[in-house]
Amino acid sequence: MRKKVTKAIFPVAGLGTRFLPATKSVPKEIMTLVDRPLIQYAIDEARAAGIKEFIFVTSRGKSALEDYFDHSPILEQELRKKGKTELLALLKDTNMDSGAIAYIRQHRALGLGHAVWCARRLIADEAFAVILPDDVIAAETPCLKQMVEAYAETGGNMVAAMEVPPEKASAYGVLDVQEDMGSIVSVKGMVEKPKREEAPSNLAVIGRYILGPSVLNNLNKMRAGAGGEIQLTDAIAADIGTANGVYGYRFRGQRFDCGSKAGFLQATVAFALARDDLRDDLSAYLREVVNMSKAAE
Ligand code: UTP
Repeated sequence: MRKKVTKAIFPVAGLGTRFLPATKSVPKEIMTLVDRPLIQYAIDEARAAGIKEFIFVTSRGKSALEDYFDHSPILEQELRKKGKTELLALLKDTNMDSGAIAYIRQHRALGLGHAVWCARRLIADEAFAVILPDDVIAAETPCLKQMVEAYAETGGNMVAAMEVPPEKASAYGVLDVQEDMGSIVSVKGMVEKPKREEAPSNLAVIGRYILGPSVLNNLNKMRAGAGGEIQLTDAIAADIGTANGVYGYRFRGQRFDCGSKAGFLQATVAFALARDDLRDDLSAYLREVVNMSKAAE
């Protein structure tokens, strides 16, 4: 039987320039979607998929992230004294078992591939997951759990994939599909941020991966690719045609690009509308706004 995937890398060392000036002092991953930071959604998804070891690739200025996962004895004591058991329960999700979480520094933002490579010594010889917290996925079965189940069948490297309109493909890594088997596709090529006319398909890679240790070996040899960064896509693509292979997984769910302002706002609305305590007020407000803007036209 294939060994379970129990380690996940969370690359969070990017500069987050699209959210300046906020990200000057607040890590992007700590920005809140309704009332939880982005990173909490990523951690919950990883836990649901059976991940036991959480490896963060961080950089200067991200200490708020480390604090977020620590116990907060004074706050907890206060809440206990006041009998606020519901709030205490909420804090529980933010705590990690001792030794379950590790932080590695990426000293320069040389790209996602480089960030993953920075964690190589903690991975050793086993498959691992990579989660980009700015891709938030609303799904009945959490996306990484779906992928872990699919991976148990295929082995190899697996990337989460979704259909995008042709004019958007150049913002993603795009799959060249060999065989389409429905939710799983086998891959014969991958291109990072192709020109519109050169995109091999409309299947774009988003921020969930299950990768074999061979990808770390490939990263050992990598040089900067598209945009002058060391690309994870290139290191995964180097496994195509080997015994490991690469598969795309069409996940069931809705992905929000919380690395962009528009995506973050859409996610905020969608996640708030999914909440019993916020739905009625927010939808009444949204209706009002839509009516006002129609009347102004
Ligand atoms: P992005 O491409 O979104 O870059 O990285 P960014 O720096 O976070 O944001 P912008 O574009 O400047 O606004 C995708 C993911 O890869 C991580 C980021 O933290 C994010 O989770 N990353 C990127 C690194 O960890 N290191 C890098 O060198 C680059």
